[in-house]
Amino acid sequence: MDEPQYDLETLAIRAGIERSQFNEHSEGLYLTSSFVFKSAAEAAARFANKEPGNIYSRFTNPTVSAFQERLAALEGAETCVATASGMSAILACVMGLLSAGDHVVASRSLFGATVQLFTNILGRFGIETSFVSQTDTAAWAAAVKPNTKLFFVETPSNPLTELCDIAALAQVARQAGAKLAVDNCFCTPILQRPLDLGADVVIHSATKYLDGQGRVLGGAVLGSKELLEPVYAFLRTAGPTLSAFNAWIILKGLETLALRMEAHSRNALELALWLEQQPRVSRVYYPGLPSHPQFALAKHQQKSGGGIVAFAVEGGQEAAWRVVDATRMVSITANLGDTKTTLTHPATTTHGRLSPEQRAAAGIGDGLLRIAVGLESVADIRGDLARGFL
Ligand SMILES: Cc1ncc(COP(=O)(O)O)c(C=O)c1O
Repeated sequence: MDEPQYDLETLAIRAGIERSQFNEHSEGLYLTSSFVFKSAAEAAARFANKEPGNIYSRFTNPTVSAFQERLAALEGAETCVATASGMSAILACVMGLLSAGDHVVASRSLFGATVQLFTNILGRFGIETSFVSQTDTAAWAAAVKPNTKLFFVETPSNPLTELCDIAALAQVARQAGAKLAVDNCFCTPILQRPLDLGADVVIHSATKYLDGQGRVLGGAVLGSKELLEPVYAFLRTAGPTLSAFNAWIILKGLETLALRMEAHSRNALELALWLEQQPRVSRVYYPGLPSHPQFALAKHQQKSGGGIVAFAVEGGQEAAWRVVDATRMVSITANLGDTKTTLTHPATTTHGRLSPEQRAAAGIGDGLLRIAVGLESVADIRGDLARGFL
């Protein structure tokens, strides 16, 4: 009999469940570093990869496997490699797919730590990166070199919510013989499925919306089994593995992902429309706003705008800090994707380690604030921000 095809809402709750002999209803949490063999022959067969089964939790763990299966089902991926954090997902991806002498084309609008990884760390190991405009597909084609192996993008970007046209970029990457990796952290598979649009790899910081409640760090790399085999081999050897406990927490988070993403988008749109009316706000960046320069692409590529809104206040850093310091309810913290609304001043926090030139090139002004709109009442979030506009 054919397996039924389930909707994303169902997969987020049901995919990846494999019950133990106790038939527990909620997913089992296997807190164990290693697994026991029935005999020396079984141990040898497992180590030789001649029979399936768990050996050691740096390699596989049933709770982590459940998370991997569920996220793979949601992204429409053949396989998922779970990692200790979003940054270790990016590291595992590049260590698995690239070698010294390779070249990467990456968006200029990437998350600050991702830029540091590509420039300061991978640069030391002979992997060169060219940074280009997120939105200009022709610039990506122009940056290709004979040794280009990877395109790396985040869409929408952090914090300016710039989009890239995934389908168009996938075509350019294919023509260049490179793989396209998309960090899908802001949208999650509920709002956008990059593999369906032609991307080769999806990256997640599960720390964000997948957990959704700001509790644990986690990450994932998704794609075809063949492509990700060296990514898994790197992880198994080098060890930035997702812990069983964190996998279990994120599995529970995934159960409400569809509901949360719809609610985050609804609240963010309402707040963005209000921010546009504020005299002290010179610009609002949100893909769900008709004023967003890529509104048409957002409508086509994403199910809704997501939960991240950036806005520029007049008066530079001083005015931006006044808004931050006047809040009493929203959390002043760098994380995002939480039920609790979080507020960040990117120029002095998440993007503070970039040089002023790099920040200017990425469009991160001193008056810019990023709000990750949570699930509190929008009226209360508005009230908290309004105090800083007085
Ligand atoms: C878009 C994006 N990718 C990756 C990361 C890194 O994830 P983690 O903090 O889980 O390592 C972040 C963190 O903020 C992010 O915003």
